[in-house]
Amino acid sequence: MTQPNPAGLEDVVAGTSEICFIDGKEGRLLYRGYDVRDLAEHASFEEVVYLLWHGRLPNRAELDAFVQQLRSLQALPGQVLDLIQHIPPATHPMAALRTAVSYLGTLDPDQEDQSQEANLRRATRLVAQFPTLVAAIQRVRQGKEPVAPRRDLSLAANFLYMLRGEEPSPLHADVMNVALVLHADHELNASTFAARVVAATLSDMYSAITAAIGALKGPLHGGANEQVMRTLLEIGSPDKAEAWVKEALAAKRRIMGFGHRVYKTEDPRATILRRLSRKVAEAAGDLRWFEISQAVEKVVTAEKGLYPNVDFYSASTYYVMGIPFELYTPIFAVSRISGWTAHVLEQYANNRLIRPRAEYTGPTRREWVPLEQR
Ligand SMILES: CC(C)(COP(=O)(O)OP(=O)(O)OC[C@H]1O[C@@H](n2cnc3c(N)ncnc32)[C@H](O)[C@@H]1OP(=O)(O)O)[C@@H](O)C(=O)NCCC(=O)NCCS
Repeated sequence: MTQPNPAGLEDVVAGTSEICFIDGKEGRLLYRGYDVRDLAEHASFEEVVYLLWHGRLPNRAELDAFVQQLRSLQALPGQVLDLIQHIPPATHPMAALRTAVSYLGTLDPDQEDQSQEANLRRATRLVAQFPTLVAAIQRVRQGKEPVAPRRDLSLAANFLYMLRGEEPSPLHADVMNVALVLHADHELNASTFAARVVAATLSDMYSAITAAIGALKGPLHGGANEQVMRTLLEIGSPDKAEAWVKEALAAKRRIMGFGHRVYKTEDPRATILRRLSRKVAEAAGDLRWFEISQAVEKVVTAEKGLYPNVDFYSASTYYVMGIPFELYTPIFAVSRISGWTAHVLEQYANNRLIRPRAEYTGPTRREWVPLEQR
């Protein structure tokens, strides 16, 4: 690790955690010791959630029971559905999600109970309800009725079903499952750190998650995937990519979906998402967005030595699946709620207030000047 840099807390170790390990040099990512590449190939998102919370993979009976529990908790309270109807339609779905989650906290059936068991119940409700919430927010924005969750679909397939009102193809359900697995956790990223800071004051889980949603929303974090798609649409065709990127770099603009604070090589999630992007594009017979992405990647890597991150190829993947781009960051949240809650539970289990110091760079002692003399 290089010398820590207080600007942006770069390389500062701000705590211990048993949940997630990133090797930024080798481009490796482990959840509880399991390589994310293995999990993406073999695991359901539900299995990964169990793994993040309990530190081990579930056996068949444990997984079945957990899946049933999640399915029994998917429906939203009527008050939340009413609230969604009152959110102005132009509101970004991430802002709507933040507001709805905060409201969910006021309806929490365990309100007075801050035990670890009650917090695990809260976490389970949140993971179960996030897909329903995001789908309902989007349907209402489009002037449509929310679609009730089904109990016979995986979390990934059910999310697409509630969004579209029809069951997804096995390919789309599978791709969504892998995308959720890949976004589930990522150590002390900005939103997870925000959640842990709030939890460390012994505030409630909903406050921690609301803060995390606010942090994820920003374009330097989860908001980048939506910006990537806007970039691809602006470029429009692969032959225009080189000139577009060179002009943007000359104007010192950031190319969204590239660079990472921790990875100094390719993000392993980007490698998998590049494959998925090509796969859904080939199945749809529409390679345009994949090809523009590849053309952009080639120029950015050659010009700046920057690699794509998790947000780059997820954009073209979701676009070909017909998902509107304002939903790309909320989809990130549908997955990352698993990691956020795992970290909040870990924080509560061994808590100390998080309160760093700042190096003071302001003026030293000044003399008071009365108002009339200023
Ligand atoms: C992720 C990110 C915020 C990390 O930032 P960081 O660790 O603070 O890195 P810095 O901002 O210090 O950047 C280091 C250098 O790389 C350049 N750089 C980093 N990401 C860049 C990008 N996406 N496009 C163009 N240049 C970039 C910076 O301009 C800087 O160059 P300089 O030293 O010549 O000024 C940054 O790479 C970024 O803004 N990426 C685009 C947004 C994005 O995709 N976010 C999702 C992250 S998963």
